[in-house]
Amino acid sequence: MSSVEQISVIQLPKEVDVFHYHRMQYSSVLHQGQRSKILLARSKIIPDKKFAVKQIPLLSDEDRDRFSREMWLMKLASDIRGVVTLLSRPVFCGPTGYLIMPFYDKRDLLSQTGKLSHDNWMKVFVRAAVSLRSLHKKNIYHQNLRPENILLNTRDVAFISDFGAACLLSEGCDKVDTWTAAPGFRGPGADKEDGQLCPFQLDTYSLAVSMWQVLSGLCPVKNKPLDHLDNIPPQYAALLRNLLLPDPDMRWTLDKFLTVALELHPDLSCFL
Ligand SMILES: Nc1ncnc2c1ncn2[C@@H]1O[C@H](COP(=O)(O)OP(=O)(O)O)[C@@H](O)[C@H]1O
Ligand SMILES: [Mg+2]
Repeated sequence: MSSVEQISVIQLPKEVDVFHYHRMQYSSVLHQGQRSKILLARSKIIPDKKFAVKQIPLLSDEDRDRFSREMWLMKLASDIRGVVTLLSRPVFCGPTGYLIMPFYDKRDLLSQTGKLSHDNWMKVFVRAAVSLRSLHKKNIYHQNLRPENILLNTRDVAFISDFGAACLLSEGCDKVDTWTAAPGFRGPGADKEDGQLCPFQLDTYSLAVSMWQVLSGLCPVKNKPLDHLDNIPPQYAALLRNLLLPDPDMRWTLDKFLTVALELHPDLSCFL
């Protein structure tokens, strides 16, 4: 039996209402994506408590495999601070899978473009880098880091979300031969033919592009981040420049970034 199959799930007959089963009241659609819907729900027991429910149609073997991997990796990462947690066992109800998560009031980082103070931007950056480093220590790479997949609570504390493209690197391996991150976040070299890519360096690059996008307000598909660092305060531009270097061997690792960032902001060491 594979580790994926060992996860305990709730299997409901298709006529059962998932919200009713979990004593929640459906409120609204937060997000309608190509693959999934995110629904807002409220607790029927504690009226102010809100949940985000990811609803994923499982119509093919590919959908089911992807959902299984997503829930399995969220479970594997559940002891990492700064990763979105599952509040219940994943639910299978008819041909649909459900993941029940806390609702993060400020939603995703993209919605905060231009709204974060520089101090809070740095707080988000350091917290996301610490969490990403912990994922990498468990051999999990995310493969889809972008502002839409980093969520914020009311205090601007960041949580890495959406493990739909994440993978576990096999024991003893440190390279992959494919990389599916979105255009603009993929990283120089991600499309090279001979395919020996370090997924951890590429995740680090995607995180840096995400943080650049939120600060610059520019789209990384239309603009090269390295060409648009002038309007960013120099101490932050220097951090981004080193994380965005085209040569992966010259590019800073998360360890190096955290060492320098915490010298600049020792108050953020609480996230370590
Ligand atoms: N727990 C949550 N709290 C608040 N908003 C959320 C939550 N989860 C997802 N969202 C919103 O829904 C969007 C899509 O969720 P995500 O899990 O990334 O789905 P997809 O796999 O379709 O990209 C996010 O970018 C964010 O805006
Ligand atoms: Mg997403």
